[in-house]
Amino acid sequence: MTSTLALLGGRPVRTRPFPSWPIFDLADETRLLQALRSGRWGRLQGTEVAGFEQRFAEMHGCAHGIAVVNGTVSLRLALIAAGLRGEDEVIVPTYTFLSTASAVIEANCVPVFVDVDLHTFNIDPGAIEAAITPRTRAIIPVHFAGQPADMTAIVAIAARHGLLVLEDAAHAHGASYEGRPAGALGRVASFSFQSSKNLTSGEGGIITTNDATLAAACRSLHNCGRVPGGIWYEHHVISGNYRLGEFQGAVLNTQLHRLDTQTTTRDRNGRRLARRLEGLPGIHPQVRPASCTRHSQHLFLLRVDATTFGAPRDAVIEALQAEGIPCSGGYGYPLPDQPLFRNKAFGPYLTQVAARLDYSQVHCPNSQLICREQGLWLDQSLMLGTDADIDDIADALEKVHEQGHALVRYQRQAR
Ligand SMILES: Cc1ncc(COP(=O)(O)O)c(C=O)c1O
Repeated sequence: MTSTLALLGGRPVRTRPFPSWPIFDLADETRLLQALRSGRWGRLQGTEVAGFEQRFAEMHGCAHGIAVVNGTVSLRLALIAAGLRGEDEVIVPTYTFLSTASAVIEANCVPVFVDVDLHTFNIDPGAIEAAITPRTRAIIPVHFAGQPADMTAIVAIAARHGLLVLEDAAHAHGASYEGRPAGALGRVASFSFQSSKNLTSGEGGIITTNDATLAAACRSLHNCGRVPGGIWYEHHVISGNYRLGEFQGAVLNTQLHRLDTQTTTRDRNGRRLARRLEGLPGIHPQVRPASCTRHSQHLFLLRVDATTFGAPRDAVIEALQAEGIPCSGGYGYPLPDQPLFRNKAFGPYLTQVAARLDYSQVHCPNSQLICREQGLWLDQSLMLGTDADIDDIADALEKVHEQGHALVRYQRQAR
């Protein structure tokens, strides 16, 4: 005997909230106040951002970290610092946040889209090679949801074609691939500290690399084109002020103390939830290859196959929400279908080549299916809970599955 869906007036699986985000305590308040009272609010006067850059880079296997205002700017500056120039092509996945591709355009380069693997939600290395042309200069794999992309294959392709690998690690703080940290798996990487991210200061980002020359170029670009030893009003390359402030540095320093423990919890809970969902018809959690030695679970991703589950994804989301499980369908469509790309609304960028670009021709059936029919996202803060919290998520999905027929009937009547 299963209980009635909460959506139809039954008792919800859960009425307690999940852990909220962000998490902070007196330590954050004290450090922030110290930064305030020091009167050294800018990155070039204080020690908070400089100290954070070093610690974060080290934790992610890198000698250099350059903190910037967000994780879009970090992508753009990394491309420019690596020497990409007007209209070079950069391979990006179709299933990602806008910035992975918009940063390419704002570096005046051309994003070339490649579909993701349906099971891992990460860029499909098998499809990368076919997208390479004589103009290709870089690949930006995204470690989507915090699961490292297939870096062995990607780095090998890049080496064969002489391409830069820039990791978009916006979701992957503390994640690892074959025991090596995300952020040190390509030549350069970009992280975001925007408010939803696993490590946050409200806004912010960082570039990590082991390449000293590239690091120096990024540092100059993030600081108005200044160079070490140069005088204050001396600017060597076109750029601007993309420095992170000391208040954000102070918060990041205290938040960083929690990252390792939080990542361990998210990783453990992600494994638990995937195990609990094994065998539930029509439910396909993101497949985790053995190479993913630590998943940062910025999201817990799954696909709902309506035919075998017994109800369509959007109805499942509505039912789960009523059961007390916050969730969403994620992106509504793949990036190339965004009006920005369809209309080539690139402002001052790519003016010479826009005419020959046609993003309506991008073939990305897996991303289409995930966006329009199957994808379901649970946020990272849900992965910070207890075993009982995780079991509630699984119980709710099981309940919705068992009551699939009632859900579909309700949906039909509501139409
Ligand atoms: C995959 C991915 N890349 C890049 C970014 C950009 O980060 P930010 O919002 O800090 O600019 C995000 C942020 O949401 C993201 O999800």
